[in-house]
Amino acid sequence: MSIALVVLAAGKGTRMNSDLPKVLHPIAQASMLEHALAAGRALDPERVIVVAGHGAEAVQATVADIDESAEVVLQQEQLGTAHAVDQARAALKGFSGDVVVLYGDTPFVSPETLERMIAARASADLVVLGFQAADPARYGRLVMQGDSLERIVEYKDASEAERALNFCNSGLMTCNAGLMFDLIAQIGNDNASGEYYLTDLVEGARKSGRSVTAVACDESETLGVNSRSDLAAADAVFQAKARAELMDLGVTLMAPDTVYLAFDTVIGRDTVIEPNVVFGPGVTIESGALIRAFSHLEGCHVSRGAKVGPYARLRPGAELAEDTHIGNFVEIKNAEIAEGAKVNHLSYIGDASIGKDTNIGAGTITCNYDGVMKHRTKIGARSFIGSNTLLVAPVTLGHETMTASGTVVTKDVEDGALAISRTRQENKPGYAEKLMDMLRAKKTRLKKGSE
Ligand code: UD1
Ligand code: CA
Repeated sequence: MSIALVVLAAGKGTRMNSDLPKVLHPIAQASMLEHALAAGRALDPERVIVVAGHGAEAVQATVADIDESAEVVLQQEQLGTAHAVDQARAALKGFSGDVVVLYGDTPFVSPETLERMIAARASADLVVLGFQAADPARYGRLVMQGDSLERIVEYKDASEAERALNFCNSGLMTCNAGLMFDLIAQIGNDNASGEYYLTDLVEGARKSGRSVTAVACDESETLGVNSRSDLAAADAVFQAKARAELMDLGVTLMAPDTVYLAFDTVIGRDTVIEPNVVFGPGVTIESGALIRAFSHLEGCHVSRGAKVGPYARLRPGAELAEDTHIGNFVEIKNAEIAEGAKVNHLSYIGDASIGKDTNIGAGTITCNYDGVMKHRTKIGARSFIGSNTLLVAPVTLGHETMTASGTVVTKDVEDGALAISRTRQENKPGYAEKLMDMLRAKKTRLKKGSE
C-alpha cells in the first residue's frame, strides 16, 4: 500500500511567544517538524505533504532543507485540523493509497507505532492513534465500544462522563485517501470552537458503515509541545532516551545528565564522555575515543583512540584521525588532523591539514582569514611547530619541518627546513637591577610630589 504523509504544521503556537513558527523550534537541535518527518519517513511514503500557515516561508525553507521531495501546501486561515488536511486535497488528487496524518508539534511518535497503525488498517477502515493519559487535561477523548472507536469528543464539547475518560486522541490517524477527503467534505464546524475538527472523521466513517479502531501508544510518544516549558520537557525526554541508548551501545557517560546530545549524534563503543560535553549536529565519534570535560563538538568526525579536551572546541569540518590529541582551549575548524598528530594547548587550527605525527606547539594560530577570504594552511608529516607560531595562510610547510617559537610564517617551508622569523635576543648584564632602581626612584618622587 502506498502512503502519503500529511503533516499539520500551520498552527501559530501562541503560547510559545515567539517569532519562530512553533514547529520550527528545535529539540536536540532539530526542529520538531524534522523529528516528525523523520518518524514518518520510516513508512517509506510515496508523498510527503506539509501543511503550513503561520511562518509558512520559514517552514517551506526548512522542509526544502530536510527533504527535497516533500511538498508544502498553504492553509491561509487556520480553521481547524480537518480544514488543514483538506489543503492537501489538490496535491493528492489521483493518489489512491493511504493518508497518514501527523502533527508537526508531536515530534516523538515512533516508527514502530506508525507501523502498528498501518498494520491495523488490515482490519479497520480508519485507524486513530490514542494513549492512556496520566492527566487527560484538554485532549480529545476516545469513546470506545470494545475494539471499535465510536467517536472522538473534544474536551470543550464533552460531557462530564466523557471528560472522565482518559483514553485520549493523539491526533494522528490513517485511512484511504479517497475516503478521507470524501469524509472531510462532510465535516461542519458546528461545535464549541467553531472549527472543522478532523476528529469528526470517526463519526462520519461509522455513519457510512465503515469500521474504525484505535491503536494505543505510550504517552511519551504523543507528547505535544505548546510552550517553552513543554519544549524543555520534550528535550529532556529526548536526551534521557538518547543517553540511555548510547550507554546500552557501550558508551561510558561519566555524568549522563550533563551530556547534551544532538538528534544525530553517533558514538562508538568504549568511548568515554566526561561530564559537561555538548554535541551539536553532525558529530560522529568512533570507538575507544575520549572526550574530556567541557568540550563542544559539532559537524566533526573523531576517529578511534583520539583524545579531545578538556575545554576543546571542534567545529564543522574538523576531521580527527586515529590517536590524535586535541587539548585544552584548542579550536579546530574545517581541518584534517592526521593520525598521531597533536594540538595540545591554546591553538586555533582552521582551514588546514596537519600531517601524520606532527606536533603543534602551544598558542599556534592559523591566520586563515584576510578579512575577505579564507585560505588554507598545509603542514606535512612529522613536523614540529614551535609555540606561538603564526601561520599566515595560504602557506604550505613540508614534511619534517620545524618553526621556531614565535615565528610568523608567511612563506612556504620546504621539507626538513626550520623557519625562524624573530629579532635576535640580546642580554645586557646588570640592566635589570638598574632599571628597577630607576623605576622605584621615580615612584618615590611622584608620591612626594602629590603629598
Ligand atoms: C487536537 C485534536 C485533539 C487531540 C489533540 C492532540 C482536533 C479537533 N483535536 O487538538 O482531539 O487530543 O490535537 O494534541 O483535531 N493545525 C493546523 N491548522 C489548523 C489547526 C491546527 O495546521 O487549522 C495543526 C497545528 O499546527 C498542530 C495540529 O494541527 O500541529 C493540532 O492542532 P491544535 O490546534 O494544537 O489541536 P488541539 O486543540 O491540540
Ligand atoms: Ca495541540
